[in-house]
Amino acid sequence: MSVLSGKKILIGVTAGIAAYKIAGLVRLFIKVGTEVKVVMTPASKDFITPLTLSTLSKNPVHSSFYDQEDENAVWNNHVDLGLWADFMIIAPATANTLSKMATGNSDNLLLATYLSAKCPVYFAPAMDLDMYKHPSTHETFKKLQEFGNIMIPAESGELASGLVGQGRMAEPEAIVDFVEKDIVSKLPLKGQRVLITAGPTYEAIDPVRFIGNHSSGRMGIELACAAANLGAQVDLILGPSSLKVDHSFVNVINVVSAKDMYHAVVSNYNNCDIAIASAAVADYRPKHVSDQKIKKADTAFSIDLERTQDILKWMGVEKKNQFLVGFALETDNEEENAKNKLKNKNLDLIVLNSLNDKGAGFKGKTNKVSLINHKFEIKAFELKTKAAVAQDIFNEINTLRNV
Ligand code: CTP
Repeated sequence: MSVLSGKKILIGVTAGIAAYKIAGLVRLFIKVGTEVKVVMTPASKDFITPLTLSTLSKNPVHSSFYDQEDENAVWNNHVDLGLWADFMIIAPATANTLSKMATGNSDNLLLATYLSAKCPVYFAPAMDLDMYKHPSTHETFKKLQEFGNIMIPAESGELASGLVGQGRMAEPEAIVDFVEKDIVSKLPLKGQRVLITAGPTYEAIDPVRFIGNHSSGRMGIELACAAANLGAQVDLILGPSSLKVDHSFVNVINVVSAKDMYHAVVSNYNNCDIAIASAAVADYRPKHVSDQKIKKADTAFSIDLERTQDILKWMGVEKKNQFLVGFALETDNEEENAKNKLKNKNLDLIVLNSLNDKGAGFKGKTNKVSLINHKFEIKAFELKTKAAVAQDIFNEINTLRNV
């Protein structure tokens, strides 16, 4: 998964020979999980067909305010298109379109969409080297960047004219990479390290049996993805879970027992900025683990248990600059118990979920939480998906850390 995943991208195609590469660009964006729509200038249709781009983007492609050949034509609303997009990318961006963008000309759908878009706009110039070097083109680049648009510089190489120099549109891979890096560089957790414990632990009784719990690991995985989408590098220390994690910024460290989890936390805690303990760690483990499978007998059977390390408590004692978040899953006296855990474990925030709330807890896809900060101020949230709960938790963390 990339930070682009789930984002809505509007690609504006203008009439340059590099337009043929936009088929590849659309495919790359679709591959990383974005939703793509395309608008074209009328002249760009000489270089690539709308049918190609609508097939690849799985969305209709428009180049005029309404389709003249269609008697049931509807108005292609440039304002809606501009509002729909999280990002607009004008590629290839010809000298003609760029100068119109700089002067506020809006004589086609693409330009009108650009003018009404509120989202960040990238432009990837493509033109011959002398056009690229021309002082008026440089003035245009400068003006467009002063307006807040982001330029993806052209590359050097052989141009359609046969001349060699700067003016070739950046390759589709380079455009995706540029946009991804630019987005990450502006994210609130850029350069931060986040450590998350998640999932159950299994405490061995013998080679075939263990003491475990019903935690799926989903809440911690959603927290890891939320942190990664905010630009953080995440170490996710994950107990046995059937769920898959797929995000380029999430490093998964698989563990089985509370002891394994403790050691993984000790190795990764010092250099993290935020640590979140969402794992359902066993509080007890068998004192002796049998090498052989234990055979049944006619008599009753009991297992001697000993305490596991309280990992979160250790993090609280060792805390330096880390922002420390714990979880409390309670069945009674919920707020009081959560506040005590917050204090006893030296936390900055605790996420309380009550098993009395339908849809809350560690098995399903939803959760209902209250967040309690170090001043014991409480914010209660509605029942939501765990992905949405993860967002709420990071909003609160960012507010409390003043990010
Ligand atoms: N935790 C931990 N290591 C443990 C046990 C719990 O890191 N050995 C963490 C959990 O990840 C969670 C919080 O501590 O963030 C839960 O607090 P805890 O007091 O241990 O809750 P319970 O295990 O539910 O304890 P109690 O039986 O006292 O309610």
